[in-house]
Amino acid sequence: MNTLVKPGSRARLAFAGLQSARVAFYGAHYLLARLMAGETVQARTRRTHPLPSSTELMAAITALFAEDWRNVEEGLYPPALDWRQELGLALKSVRYLSDVPKVIERQQRNRHRDVDPGQVQLPDYYRRNFHFQTDGYLSERSAGLYDFQVEALFGGTAGAMRRRAFVPIARYQKRRGAGPHVLLDVGAGTGAFLSFVQKVCPAIEAVALDLSEPYLAHAQRRAARLGQSTRFLVGPVEAIPLPDASVDIVSSIYLFHELPPEVRAQAAREIARVLKPGGLFVLADSLQYRDVPSFDGLLELFPGLLHEPFYASYARSDLKPLFAPEGLLPVHVDIAYLTKIIAFEKLSGGQAR
Ligand SMILES: C[S@@+](CC[C@H](N)C(=O)[O-])C[C@H]1O[C@@H](n2cnc3c(N)ncnc32)[C@H](O)[C@@H]1O
Repeated sequence: MNTLVKPGSRARLAFAGLQSARVAFYGAHYLLARLMAGETVQARTRRTHPLPSSTELMAAITALFAEDWRNVEEGLYPPALDWRQELGLALKSVRYLSDVPKVIERQQRNRHRDVDPGQVQLPDYYRRNFHFQTDGYLSERSAGLYDFQVEALFGGTAGAMRRRAFVPIARYQKRRGAGPHVLLDVGAGTGAFLSFVQKVCPAIEAVALDLSEPYLAHAQRRAARLGQSTRFLVGPVEAIPLPDASVDIVSSIYLFHELPPEVRAQAAREIARVLKPGGLFVLADSLQYRDVPSFDGLLELFPGLLHEPFYASYARSDLKPLFAPEGLLPVHVDIAYLTKIIAFEKLSGGQAR
């Protein structure tokens, strides 16, 4: 890892200013999109749990950024103060807003098979408009909008939640020595997490796996811009095209809730297969029921609002029995606002099955 200079009070002020501006900017985009949608979708979604109050949400967001800053002070990663990158993303506002009416139309008609019909080689569960987003994951246009859409959905907190998934990786590397570890990011998408990891640990050998060619192409352009060297693999997490025990660290950010239950089990097996004994697996994904009881209403709302056919079963599933038979045992659990991070280590004596 890079040796990090302890940030001063000016950096802290800049960090606080930038994160507040992000929450205001992306939060306003989310609210505008909801206003454009009207009440129909929310009214359609039946809930048994109340929604959290805005005070509860703001307290959780404040706690997220406070912890983010503590991690900076601990020297785990540098403060998120990349103004150029922030500006580049913010400039996609008009593109985002002009796409919103198309998303709303799909939402209101529950149209979720509005994707390129030619991609028959891809699994059926995948060929759909997740989040009702235009083209699903199957076009460059969708890849170009994705990072903005995620920030709008999470009100400017997505970057901070992803950074928290790096904490167990930083600690693992400290324990094991920085070494040239191989890190595989499954469902890497447009490469947001991997590019952050490579910025902090330039020595890491990064591999990005995703089923979406256009999303990986976007990630590849980002890596080229940042001078990062990454291996890109187009393929499914349920059949990872890598040899057994060839990877030190696997990360999975917001992937598992989009997989059908049987594919989650295959993915768990594959992740354990490619990990070296003693290797680390970091799963960062949605909160599950009862993680933060006052947020349970949000978990009910989400899959109806944005097409997420496998989310309800994910949010109720017990993850430990999914990974334990593969020899993956939990060593770290953390809640970062709407994201839960679980780190597993692979038993040294081979798999437990
Ligand atoms: C919600 S996005 C998350 C992307 C990224 N990890 C992030 O932090 O934003 C889910 C990603 O998983 C990919 N994906 C979905 N099913 C997959 C599968 N079976 N195998 C590999 N990638 C998959 C999608 O193409 C998409 O890029």
